Amino acid sequence: MRAVGVIPKKREVALFDHHVMPTLSEPGHAKIRVIEVGICGTDREICSFAYGTPPDGSDYLVLGHEALGEVVEVGAGVTRLKVGDLVVPSVRRPCPHDHCPSCVVGRQDFCFTGDFTERGIKMVHGYMTEFFVEDEEHLNRVPADLRDVAVLVEPLTVAEKALAQVTAVQSRLNWGNGAGKTAVVLGAGPIGILGAMALVVRGYKTFVYSRSAEPNPKAALVNSIGAKYISSETISLADFQKMTGNIDLVYEALGVAKISFEVMKVLGLNGVFVFTGIPPHKPAIPVEADSLMRQMVLMNQVIIGTVNADRAAFEGAIADLAIFKQRWPDALRNIISGRFPMESYRDLLLGKATGIKNVITIGG
Ligand code: BGC
Ligand code: ZN
Repeated sequence: MRAVGVIPKKREVALFDHHVMPTLSEPGHAKIRVIEVGICGTDREICSFAYGTPPDGSDYLVLGHEALGEVVEVGAGVTRLKVGDLVVPSVRRPCPHDHCPSCVVGRQDFCFTGDFTERGIKMVHGYMTEFFVEDEEHLNRVPADLRDVAVLVEPLTVAEKALAQVTAVQSRLNWGNGAGKTAVVLGAGPIGILGAMALVVRGYKTFVYSRSAEPNPKAALVNSIGAKYISSETISLADFQKMTGNIDLVYEALGVAKISFEVMKVLGLNGVFVFTGIPPHKPAIPVEADSLMRQMVLMNQVIIGTVNADRAAFEGAIADLAIFKQRWPDALRNIISGRFPMESYRDLLLGKATGIKNVITIGG
């Protein structure tokens, strides 16, 4: 089978022959034909060799953790899936320890030991190949009419889990589901735009604060869904704050600490700031730590980091995508900026980041 992956020892990114055709080795397994795989910042970072680990005994790691596939074979113990179903696999697999209270209940997104694995990222091959086998427990069925956008399910799970965290934290207040509250999304990449859609659907007054001046295609997309795009190049943070009023929630989807900690200064009373970006290690930067600490205490603020996603987040993402598709069919489709053959892997993974969400088509 053809596969795109990294060979860390040689510092190579390559399209190679991944010669193990996967077979069903457990009754609960299903075999999946890969239709398409999205590319994200994590993949690009793995290609810079700052992140990512091949499976034990393998020199290479097959990339890809944002996949859409079709079930082509099911084991005798599979109960929820049948041949022909479309599925999106999750990413993280539980650690092997019985004493991990999270992994034993299927919440490996909150693994306590750090010995979890992640497909296409940490010690298990990913989906940028023709077929893979997975336990049905880690496969999420997608309705056929979402086929053209279902590759966005995994990136949308970031917002789904983040918003579940926000709801849990804000159950300390009379917050409801956030309807009528004001949210600021930092960044207008796929995680930011999908997050903005999720916020608008929940009734938040939503602003997207991002660098590029208008007009630009991302700004147009954001404004078309009823959120408001604000360029940090043309509008100062102080002026931005006047436009928003009390900011109840900041959803960070930028991966840049400097801007994030600036914006933290305008987080409102009882506000929540959620980090989802994973910046590479960089030199230290100055932060007004005492002022921030004073603000956080006097304003009851909560700062949370969130990573990965549980089954509920995948199911929520599939349900939300159906809503997005009905409400904003063009905007949703336009998040997918291009579909490319496997041969384009080099430009997509190592070239300048372009568009919004680029996708590699594997099995059409
Ligand atoms: C993936 C997550 C993963 C994280 C850290 C992200 O790109 O979407 O599933 O947990 O990287 O490896
Ligand atoms: Zn664990």
